[in-house]
Amino acid sequence: MSKVVIETRKLSKAFKGITAADQATRVIHELDFKVMEGETVAIVGASGAGKSTLLHVLGGLESPDSGQVLWGTEAIDQWSVRELGFQRNKTLGFIYQFHHLLPEFSALDNVAMALRIGGTDKKQARQRAAVVLERLNLGHRLNHRPAELSGGERQRVAIARALVTQPKAILADEPTGNLDLETANQVFASLIDNNREAKAALVMVTHSLELAHRCERVLSLSKGQLTVVK
Ligand SMILES: Nc1ncnc2c1ncn2[C@@H]1O[C@H](COP(=O)(O)OP(=O)(O)OP(=O)(O)O)[C@@H](O)[C@H]1O
Ligand SMILES: [Mg+2]
Repeated sequence: MSKVVIETRKLSKAFKGITAADQATRVIHELDFKVMEGETVAIVGASGAGKSTLLHVLGGLESPDSGQVLWGTEAIDQWSVRELGFQRNKTLGFIYQFHHLLPEFSALDNVAMALRIGGTDKKQARQRAAVVLERLNLGHRLNHRPAELSGGERQRVAIARALVTQPKAILADEPTGNLDLETANQVFASLIDNNREAKAALVMVTHSLELAHRCERVLSLSKGQLTVVK
């Protein structure tokens, strides 16, 4: 029996309009969803459908209006902000739609930071970060800052940062969104390699139906619900 790594129970989230007359944007509506250990799931849907919001709520970066998110068997709303941050660092790797690297830090230190937050000492964190960056073909860019990297290189640093803690699940928000086809294929391949080797579940939002269909499951987000495409 495989285990559940992320689960939602009757999860709902809406954004209120700016003025009282504006309608609320209902993004997620009473969603029951499970991600199993080691599986790959693509989430597709129109721009504005709520894909990023869903990933943020799954990752505990935004709170739902009602319902629950569980990581394994633990409901995440039981934790303080500090404990949630600690548990997130242990459980999940998050790849943002826009990479969110720290501009003043090198590629190496951006990746090492994820381990430092979990309590790894500096030397060991840097060693492990270097290994992951080398595997993503960035061994020659360790000391470059984000501004000195190409878009694809930045995205690979962001992926290295998500993988370095060996999380149970990777949540990736359009990780290949701004990349040319060849680089997008490489970036996707590195996520799939990690999935196979580390058995980490992958939940990936993408506009590429081609990449989506290379995942085991494809779900489409529309009107607050996920429907099965594959
Ligand atoms: N903080 C916010 N306040 C108000 N409305 C928001 C907020 N964040 C997102 N929204 C709205 O919620 C809806 C869903 O946004 P979201 O970013 O989740 O869409 P998406 O599916 O990721 O789109 P894209 O494919 O363009 O990235 C949009 O209509 C957006 O305008
Ligand atoms: Mg988005």
